Amino acid sequence: MLNGEKDKVRITDLSRMKAAHTPIAMLTAYDCAFARIFDYAGVDVLLVGDSLGMVVQGAQNTLAVTVDEIIYHSRMVARARRRALLVADMPFLSYQVSVEQALLNAGRLLKEGGAEAVKLEGGLSIAATVRRLVEVDIPVMGHIGLTPQSIHRMGGYRVQGRRSGRAPGCRERLLDDAAALESAGAFAIVLEGMPPELAEEITAKAGVPTIGIGAGAGCDGQVLVMHDLLGLSGCPTPRFAKPYLNLWEEVGGAVLSYLREVRERSFPGPEHCYRPRQRS
Ligand code: KIV
Repeated sequence: MLNGEKDKVRITDLSRMKAAHTPIAMLTAYDCAFARIFDYAGVDVLLVGDSLGMVVQGAQNTLAVTVDEIIYHSRMVARARRRALLVADMPFLSYQVSVEQALLNAGRLLKEGGAEAVKLEGGLSIAATVRRLVEVDIPVMGHIGLTPQSIHRMGGYRVQGRRSGRAPGCRERLLDDAAALESAGAFAIVLEGMPPELAEEITAKAGVPTIGIGAGAGCDGQVLVMHDLLGLSGCPTPRFAKPYLNLWEEVGGAVLSYLREVRERSFPGPEHCYRPRQRS
């Protein structure tokens, strides 16, 4: 059931949702057409993810995505959005070089992209940057666990938190990362690619909402990449994702019908043609 009339979701609503055990539903969007549908359907948070490097641009990973590209897509989503909270990803190396650069780039996502918050990957190592962004009233969503910008350190897209220890990606380190983000002022934390028990422990300890992807049902909310939800890629969906549609086949079928009708000259029909105006 579509519902375009719910109240605007604000940063402050997410902690209320955690307290009330109301699951938070987040979904990526990269353009106006899909963002309008998702917003109207009642998605709570729209994320302009740097996953756009892969699902929109066709790259192997997210590393080449630029701040300008996130702004370009965020603007389109911002035009469609009425109710959802709009979060934009800070791409690789847009926040790691210096706090000043992070401030300027995050500010651009709000000023030029229309985002209401930014998302950064990392925990302890970026806590000082998160604190500074929050000090100047740029709301920050954290993102720990399988962080796609760390693909080379992780040796591929690998589930994190399976091993014990305080090295990056280890169990206790992820607990420390979440605590560091919360105390730096992050308003929510994405938990990606980790065992459900660890995600549950982080969620229980965190005073801010957690949003899971490949982290089980024990988080305060869930996020999916829209292409996975809609079955748009034509490839097998990853284990953690659930395709609710097979748009690859639906769209492919529509295009095949169009091709057939063009080739047999049954499209356009008389009902698709303009008639000369009648003289009165
Ligand atoms: O870039 C992205 O789409 C993301 C989500 C998968 C959380 O970071």
